[in-house]
Amino acid sequence: MKVKKSRTNLSTTGQQRQRRSWAEPYKIKMVEPLRMTSPQQRRRAIQAAGYNTFLLRSEDVYIDLLTDSGTSAMSDWQWAGMMLGDEAYAGSRNFYNLEEAVQEHYGYRYVIPTHQGRGAEHILSQILIKPGDTIPGNMYFTTTRFHQEHAGGNFVDIIIDEAHDSRSLHPFKGNIDLKKLERQLKASRVPYVCVAATVNMAGGQPISMRNMKAVSQLCKKHKTKIFLDATRAVENAYFIKTREKGYGERSLKSILREFCSYSDGCTMSGKKDSLVNIGGWLAMNDSSIAEEARNLIVVYEGLHTYGGLAGRDMEAMARGIVESVDENHMRARIGQVEYLGQLLLDWKIPIVEPIGGHAIYLDARRFYPHMPQDNFPAQTLAAELYLDSGVRSMERGIVSAGRDKESGANHHPSLELVRLTIPRRVYTQAHMDVVAESVESVFRKPRKPRGLAMTYEPKYLRFFQARFRPK
Ligand code: F0G
Repeated sequence: MKVKKSRTNLSTTGQQRQRRSWAEPYKIKMVEPLRMTSPQQRRRAIQAAGYNTFLLRSEDVYIDLLTDSGTSAMSDWQWAGMMLGDEAYAGSRNFYNLEEAVQEHYGYRYVIPTHQGRGAEHILSQILIKPGDTIPGNMYFTTTRFHQEHAGGNFVDIIIDEAHDSRSLHPFKGNIDLKKLERQLKASRVPYVCVAATVNMAGGQPISMRNMKAVSQLCKKHKTKIFLDATRAVENAYFIKTREKGYGERSLKSILREFCSYSDGCTMSGKKDSLVNIGGWLAMNDSSIAEEARNLIVVYEGLHTYGGLAGRDMEAMARGIVESVDENHMRARIGQVEYLGQLLLDWKIPIVEPIGGHAIYLDARRFYPHMPQDNFPAQTLAAELYLDSGVRSMERGIVSAGRDKESGANHHPSLELVRLTIPRRVYTQAHMDVVAESVESVFRKPRKPRGLAMTYEPKYLRFFQARFRPK
């Protein structure tokens, strides 16, 4: 199953060359045709989209690696669950199934569904953050930081320095720097520490169990809570299993439970690990926070037993949680990401290392070393990749980082990346080959673009809807 250096994964035993490939632990029951486009069509489409891949029509995309969020393929068992939706306004049977699945797999006492992850982030931030509070976190995530700041808080990055270096091979680049954390806990008012499992913006990098335990001890000492962003916590559990001493024989399920036990609750986007197209939840162990959350949820999301979801959505998510900790599933999921990453590394394409959980991150600075960051190298690279092959990716650099809340100046993140995000159970290894070949062709292109200028900047989370023109 593990992808070796060679593409064909050949191993030699004695005289015989034995081929031992790995394959996806499922077969395909239904297909969705892909549309191929011509270079002219793609040129027109990206112009019309203002050089922002978020504004392309999905119909104009060949292989869609924009995000792994809500784009996964559900299993026949999940689809069967969709037919068992109990669409009662209150007390749907599917809510209780979801509640039970969360309690069993994540271990939290109280569970409140939300329409997706940011719904949970909104409610949690409104309950716990007072103006002037500081929320330390292991690198920002766009919507999470937005809700923290919207509630009057200040986000402070406390991730280890290695996370900001695309070449560092640290196996747990998602770890929290305990000194940075302690400084914040001593100097500021911290309602909770926000810990992300597999840090998206750092390249899908995990946090170790040891670090999580240490963070928990420090927070206990300072009487501060920890809320986890559990969006990709099962993927994090896989990295603990494969990289951390003492966890190799443990099940993903038990690693996940232990990991969550060091926190007081979590926000969750079910659209990732839990293999659904829509859904999320908020969970905690403290009954008074749960009560406040139930009060707010009726205002913003819906009754506390549906939180903006249909009964069928909750059922699919409950079943997705069970499937997400399946060892074969997770090995194939991370294995596919690793396959694509290894191919690019073999071809000397600059990507963030080690290879992360849900995506390959191209280092746009090393694609276009002469381009100033204010010309949006990653945004440019995402457009170039689309023009080359119809592969859709996403900018994760200066555009995503946005502006400072106080001064209005652009943040200049050290990482200027393009994310090739792999949906779960959707594409085959052959698709990964096509993607790698297109990335290589863009990397080797002798004529380099000059970059882009922003022509429209939305007020919030600008990367979603900003428009650009070539320089
Ligand atoms: N936290 C993390 C780490 C995420 O990656 C996301 C979403 C959210 C929270 C918010 O969840 O979308 O359900 O509201 N990430 C998507 C992405 C959008 O493409 O990485 P949501």
